[in-house]
Amino acid sequence: MNSHGSAVDPPQSCHRSSVDPPWIRYGSAGDPTNTSTEDLELAPLGDSDVHVKMLAAPINPADINMIQGTYALLPELPAVGGNEGVGRVLGVGRRVTSVTPGDWVLPADAGLGTWRTEAVFPEETLLRVPRDVPVLCAATLGVNPCTAYRMLADFESLRPGDSVIQNAANSGVGQAVIQIARAAGIRTINVVRDRPDLPKLVERLVSLGADHVITEEMLRKPDMKDIFKSIPKPRLALNCVGGKSATEMLRHLPRGTMVTYGGMAKQPVTVPVSAFIFKDVKLRGFWMTQWKKDQMHSKLAVSLCELVRKGQLGTPACTEVPLEDYRAALEASMKPFTSSKQILIL
Ligand SMILES: NC(=O)c1ccc[n+]([C@@H]2O[C@H](COP(=O)([O-])OP(=O)(O)OC[C@H]3O[C@@H](n4cnc5c(N)ncnc54)[C@H](OP(=O)(O)O)[C@@H]3O)[C@@H](O)[C@H]2O)c1
Repeated sequence: MNSHGSAVDPPQSCHRSSVDPPWIRYGSAGDPTNTSTEDLELAPLGDSDVHVKMLAAPINPADINMIQGTYALLPELPAVGGNEGVGRVLGVGRRVTSVTPGDWVLPADAGLGTWRTEAVFPEETLLRVPRDVPVLCAATLGVNPCTAYRMLADFESLRPGDSVIQNAANSGVGQAVIQIARAAGIRTINVVRDRPDLPKLVERLVSLGADHVITEEMLRKPDMKDIFKSIPKPRLALNCVGGKSATEMLRHLPRGTMVTYGGMAKQPVTVPVSAFIFKDVKLRGFWMTQWKKDQMHSKLAVSLCELVRKGQLGTPACTEVPLEDYRAALEASMKPFTSSKQILIL
């Protein structure tokens, strides 16, 4: 039975563009700016397939690492870049039951190749999401906010009034952590790298709900004591960076858990033995891609859309980039201190 209530509905015809739709392709691992756009013939719409018009897709660090060939999950080459994004369903095969034309969909998993204008995807690779969230928010909902939500929920039982410390707090994940924590009454201590326009960044993160925003240098200063006069020491630390940043953050975790989910500094995590012996600190890791394999991702996406509707979760700071300018967007996404998620408008 399909979603129109009939087992015998004809397949919705697959709309063909007058020109073949472009995609951003790479044929070998290497420099992301060496990718090229090509016109691709759409695959025919099979009975269990969905024809999707991609609307918007972000450039995330994992996409870059995948093209460089350094990510834990690598596609067969040649491949289309991009793991996240939102699309609108144009047509469905006769056995498709979970979506109908007009629905908005996200990739259910990593590796779909979202940097393209149109595609025919198998039904099971897609998740339907409500259409009443802003398109850029939907395009960036499936990875970073989901990661933030799970890390806040799954490692320590945090209660309102408890606190969390995180580095790279201005990252997409970091911004989601601030907002989701605020919605749950959890306070956040947010570590960022120093930069010329630091006050502007601090103001932006505070406007999202950050309780404290400090630089990595500040982590080593005695002034840190002042923060803990008004807020309890954290029970959870979220590590996106590794290296010194993680070691310094651990100093302020009296016990509890540090979850490593990113390695932006490309340096290992070094832990003083005293943290294990005297504080019994637990070190854990998190990978959303693995979580999605094991759990109901669709429910989580719907809960996050609820936060969006309530105004408690917004689109990360971003720059909208037309597909033809994708090279500039890839370059910007790899520069330090960009503080803006590059989102391809497709
Ligand atoms: N494990 C998972 O399931 C999972 C899920 C989502 C994301 N991630 C990972 O989380 C990380 C952030 O992803 P995102 O999409 O949120 O990133 P993003 O929005 O592109 O932000 C990147 C962040 O990394 C910081 N950064 C870059 N290089 C750095 C360095 N050398 N030292 C310290 N900070 C540095 C940037 O700070 P500046 O502004 O100072 O440059 C910025 O805060 C990535 O490693 C990504 O792969 C993991």
